[in-house]
Amino acid sequence: MSGQMNKPPTRRSFLDLILAVGSLLTTAAVSIPGLMYLWPAAKGGGPAKVEVEGADQMTPGQGKTIQVGSQAVVVVRHRSGFKAYSAVCTHLGCLVTWDSPTKSFLCPCHAAVFDENGKVVSGPPPAPLPEFVVKEIGDKVFVSAA
Ligand code: FES
Repeated sequence: MSGQMNKPPTRRSFLDLILAVGSLLTTAAVSIPGLMYLWPAAKGGGPAKVEVEGADQMTPGQGKTIQVGSQAVVVVRHRSGFKAYSAVCTHLGCLVTWDSPTKSFLCPCHAAVFDENGKVVSGPPPAPLPEFVVKEIGDKVFVSAA
């Protein structure tokens, strides 16, 4: 057995290595555009602190998706005020939507449900939706990451 460990690489093992690297590169070339589709918020950037346009016209229970920096964020108006959570599902990065009737965030990819506080109710996500900072100044509402 120790004699096999010192053998020089054969043409066959070199070709196997080339095939493995080629397969890896092909997988990456196919996967990366798909992941970019699932995570469109990562494509561009924007201001790190954003005013929620039309916030004064939102009714309690209503939500809207905005962009804060490079991240998609869902802003929801509750009776007690506004809250904002990342729209990026903590499972595989699909975008969640706010469902007013059930007061929950829904992920279309694997049917995950988050409650109105971003906590996982059901499905595979390993963590709650990260919360964003909301500041209400007069009738204006601002959202930032920290
Ligand atoms: S990506 Fe949201 S549940 Fe899988």
